[in-house]
Amino acid sequence: MNEHVSLSAPIEEPIQRSNTRKVFIKTYGCQMNVYDSTRMGDALASEGYETTEEMGEADLVLLNTCHIREKAADKVYSALGRLREMKKKRAAEGREFMIGVAGCVAQAEGEEIARREPAVDVVIGPQTYHRLPDALKQARTGKRVVDTEYAVEDKFAHLPAVEKAKVRARGVTSFLTVQEGCDKFCTFCVVPYTRGSEVSRPVQQIIDEAERLVDAGVREITLLGQNVNAWQAEGPPRGRNGGEWGLGDLLYRLAEIPGLARLRYTTSHPRDMDDRLIEAHRDLRSLMPYLHLPVQSGSDRILKAMNRRHTAAEYIRLIERIRSMRGDIAMSGDFIVGFPGETDQDFEDTLRIVEEVNYASAYSFKYSTRPGTPGADLGDQVAEEVKAERLERLQALLLKQQTDFAKSCVGKVIDLLLEKPGRMPGQVIGRSPWLQSVNVDAKTSQIGDIIQVRIIGTGPNSLFAEPAESLIGA
Ligand code: SAH
Ligand code: SF4
Ligand code: F3S
Repeated sequence: MNEHVSLSAPIEEPIQRSNTRKVFIKTYGCQMNVYDSTRMGDALASEGYETTEEMGEADLVLLNTCHIREKAADKVYSALGRLREMKKKRAAEGREFMIGVAGCVAQAEGEEIARREPAVDVVIGPQTYHRLPDALKQARTGKRVVDTEYAVEDKFAHLPAVEKAKVRARGVTSFLTVQEGCDKFCTFCVVPYTRGSEVSRPVQQIIDEAERLVDAGVREITLLGQNVNAWQAEGPPRGRNGGEWGLGDLLYRLAEIPGLARLRYTTSHPRDMDDRLIEAHRDLRSLMPYLHLPVQSGSDRILKAMNRRHTAAEYIRLIERIRSMRGDIAMSGDFIVGFPGETDQDFEDTLRIVEEVNYASAYSFKYSTRPGTPGADLGDQVAEEVKAERLERLQALLLKQQTDFAKSCVGKVIDLLLEKPGRMPGQVIGRSPWLQSVNVDAKTSQIGDIIQVRIIGTGPNSLFAEPAESLIGA
């Protein structure tokens, strides 16, 4: 999972009043939270709420939060402080204003949030958000609701289906959560505590959701899970293991859906990359040649202390196998520097594994101590300035690799999925097979098409292309 934690939306005065209630959802954290925010919006729509991009217009502000690092969690409390002030102003105007906290901070801190910030009306965990409309109703009677139980019912089965036009309006790419939770217990990580143990959605439920998305005009689906390649379920006999499906089997099946041009999946654990999944990269044209496979560290000593349950050499061998199936695959990863006990030599091993793999993109973080995780009890914490210095060196190397990868694309003719209007009139932004943003001259009516383009240049975060002659997959 890649986090991009920011609170950019300004808190403004109310702009207008209307009869429909409006909800502003602020999403922190990973793609799973992005998916959940959309689904919470769906659940609220069936109660008459419209989603707004303007916080100033909202009658309900929902923070969908992330607990992965200390800073991520801190942001929530500062945002809540600002919302409290906004609520006071609204109360003075006699207007309803409700505050909800959802996501992983809600799950981890539950009652504590309600205690620290009395302005909060509803606290709802990631497993119970289908009960959000009920929670709001209760809160309106003056009762504060904290609902962070692990629900017995399947929340996906309780979420409403959404009209085609609304799905299409969200774009031609979509996330689809297939798996939640984690049983790996890496010693630095809160996810097994906030998202609970691994649960896989049933085969048919996933196929139905994918077909609905495609029917509405979605061309690319990214399957999501905290540990997406740990997904497993019973299905009709298929593949080597009869009715036992793994993520590879699911990808083969989804690739059969007419009109679904592209498939991706994230985030994977190296331990769960099985043969069928690796072979899918060889066999499926619609499975994009990009793989986010975090390694965290290149030192066996640290990998062991992190409980990653593989060595650096095993990770390298795995990547060699994947590359032998699909030579043009672009690798992406996550790294933590400054895990307790990390020496200069351990860090050098991380730089070495980065050199060896050659990443097309990557995310890297300073270790953040998370209360309740085994890492928090380890001695030998690394000094902040050492972490900062290591992160800087690592990021310089990763940035160089990313830039070199982008430059290596110049001159290539590639398939581009046109996604949204560009900044300049007459420009459209698309995605390369390797997940890069690409600007090209095209009509907005072509959004959803896959066209062939030639890459002609690179910018800081995107590529530039010109249309090549032929048009595929319109
Ligand atoms: N399931 C994914 C990771 C989910 S969390 C996996 O196993 O790779 C996303 C990333 O956040 C992790 O890969 C890790 O690099 C980082 N991360 C998690 N906990 C952290 C912590 N306590 N401090 C710093 N970074 C952390
Ligand atoms: Fe966290 Fe490890 Fe699970 Fe990933 S595999 S979510 S890093 S515990
Ligand atoms: Fe953050 Fe929860 Fe995702 S802790 S990274 S939002 S699973």
